[in-house]
Amino acid sequence: MQFQKLPVNERAAKLNADVERVVNDTVRAYDRFMGKVGLGGRRAAYDDEHYEFVGGASDTLRKKHYDKSLRLLWKAEHVAPWSSFKDAGEAERALLSAAEHGMTDQEKAARRRISSKEFRALLDREYTPAEKRALVKILSKIGHGEAYAWLVSASMLTEVQSTGARAAVTMQIMEEAKHFVVLRELIEAFEVEIPRQAAWDYLLLEGSLRVKGLNRFFAMNVLIETIALSIFGLLSDKPGLEVLRNFHLDESRHTALPDNYFREFPMTEWQKKSPAARLARLGMSLPAVPLVLYLEPELAELGVDVFEFAGSVLRKAMNLAERSGFLLPLPSKTLLTVFNAVFNAYCRATRQGHQWRDYMAADTTHGAAEAAVEREIFGGHSAAAQ
Ligand SMILES: [Fe+2]
Ligand SMILES: [Fe+2]
Repeated sequence: MQFQKLPVNERAAKLNADVERVVNDTVRAYDRFMGKVGLGGRRAAYDDEHYEFVGGASDTLRKKHYDKSLRLLWKAEHVAPWSSFKDAGEAERALLSAAEHGMTDQEKAARRRISSKEFRALLDREYTPAEKRALVKILSKIGHGEAYAWLVSASMLTEVQSTGARAAVTMQIMEEAKHFVVLRELIEAFEVEIPRQAAWDYLLLEGSLRVKGLNRFFAMNVLIETIALSIFGLLSDKPGLEVLRNFHLDESRHTALPDNYFREFPMTEWQKKSPAARLARLGMSLPAVPLVLYLEPELAELGVDVFEFAGSVLRKAMNLAERSGFLLPLPSKTLLTVFNAVFNAYCRATRQGHQWRDYMAADTTHGAAEAAVEREIFGGHSAAAQ
């Protein structure tokens, strides 16, 4: 490449460079001082001298969450052909039509783009009005939850350190945005009234936005997303709800994020164990229990025992909390025993001929793929795979 060089006034260039050096030293010294005395300082946790966010590259986190999210990225146009989304690219459309060549006519018919009208007819065929209302009530809890997941994950972008963790959180924000808009169309397709938030999810979700700093990881990624994951795992094998499989897979990565993050940026012993933090976490979690119990009639309509569902959620959330270092006032094993006793006492009072049951051992996730994904997160291994 040939460039036509232009003359430069050396003295002016040197003067500009000298002025910049003085201003740079002053600005940065001022921000360092203000940061040290707690009066502000540099706003961005960004280290331009190393071309990295403060905290370093964190490539492991980036690979587990950002790269993996991109690998598993799904498009609503593809998995929810009945929706209004037009988000698939040329290559994806070409792949889809190539895949259809190898299908039988029956498979093609099932796979073929079904219109919104046909999808609504399918829901009417598969479910009674009472079942549709039950499904919408349960799904709307997560629908409202996705709005908060979007907001909370966006707020985490300024809480985490390192380039890798920010890339991971950025993918979560993008996925929560997709969850909110796609789930809303799915819920609207049932054509029944969509309930507002109940007091319990209002308290739980508002609490997740109010809580400070990394404890938002506990409120959202550990607690609320475990409830979401459990609902998706329960419903993704039902007719018309297959798209929830993709949600389930995304949420599994989100629930694994705190554990993976703390492996690289551990919490202090005080952050994990201080009595105030333990109590605050228990306080944050409490609305989850009446929330799940509030869904008893709707779960019963679908043939699911609310206490089995609640036991399965509690076991997963508490084990995950403990493993991530978010300790509660009592060890998870003890808390689960207490909840089991409370659930059995409630059932003795409300159900005829109730026999003691270990609700904490229940698992309401259906589908082999979903169970395998959950084993990976809740079964004691590190996080949503490599
Ligand atoms: Fe989500
Ligand atoms: Fe999520």
